[in-house]
Amino acid sequence: MQPGSIVIVGTGITLGSHISPLSRSYIENADVVFAGVADGITELWLKEMHPDVRSFAPLYAEGKSRHVTYQEMIDLMLVEVRLGKKVVCAFYGHPGVFAYAPHKVIELARAEGYTAHMEPGISSADCLHAELGIDPGKVGCQYFEASQYMFYQRNIDPTAYLVLWQVGIAGDKSHARFATGGAYRQVLVDLLAEHYPLHHEVILYEAASLPFQQARITHLPLSALPDAEMNLKTTMVVPPARKLEKNLQVLARLAAIRAAELEAEASAAEFEVPEGEYQAAEISN
Ligand SMILES: C[S@@+](CC[C@H](N)C(=O)[O-])C[C@H]1O[C@@H](n2cnc3c(N)ncnc32)[C@H](O)[C@@H]1O
Repeated sequence: MQPGSIVIVGTGITLGSHISPLSRSYIENADVVFAGVADGITELWLKEMHPDVRSFAPLYAEGKSRHVTYQEMIDLMLVEVRLGKKVVCAFYGHPGVFAYAPHKVIELARAEGYTAHMEPGISSADCLHAELGIDPGKVGCQYFEASQYMFYQRNIDPTAYLVLWQVGIAGDKSHARFATGGAYRQVLVDLLAEHYPLHHEVILYEAASLPFQQARITHLPLSALPDAEMNLKTTMVVPPARKLEKNLQVLARLAAIRAAELEAEASAAEFEVPEGEYQAAEISN
């Protein structure tokens, strides 16, 4: 392995309380720290942990493709890795959840022979499951990036939860906007209406970024989405619209397997010599 390494850590969503002790330790022991976090306060907090924190915030601009921004981030991180430094980059939430640059920089650094790995953080998804009381194990939960859901033919299951990420910029093909409007969201509503009634209640969710803030949890009918207030932090949850339907064919196959197992167990038991008799036979021989 070459000298030079990179660790991508997650700071979590709520300032100060969501970071893991291990991620904090990587930050404190780094040569240089990059910050892809949601606000200036979080950057100041990182600066208390390390004297050289370099913000990615100036790389973002309305009208500039985020693909360009992501490539600039990757280049900045790799320059320092190639200089043989211990590089740490702190992204908000979980750095591997709906985030391109963290995965890409790890892939590129490894391809060049450097040590690279990711430490998880508390994602907005984790906050959502906690605050909205949604257990993905109950009926299942589908995650889609809102625009990708619009641009491609996707199959969704209305008996499970549907979570749409980046709904505030739904329908934007430029990757350069900070918001799209009601007309774009109406297209999303029309798509969803193929699976859900227009009166179906959906939830707009924004977890608190700062400890003194409250989460925003807005319940509204699907039809009201075009006029709803949302921003870059908004995640949309569509609860199930239908009950789970039994797969009778699979259940019948499984029942047949179980019946065969029980039959085999029963006939094995028939030929088994009871322990007492066996011992008696051994002794008499
Ligand atoms: C580029 S993704 C980054 C997600 C981040 N890596 C995470 O773990 O939460 C941005 C999207 O995450 C969701 N998101 C980010 N912050 C959020 C928050 N405070 N509350 C709810 N959802 C949030 C929104 O859907 C937003 O458009």
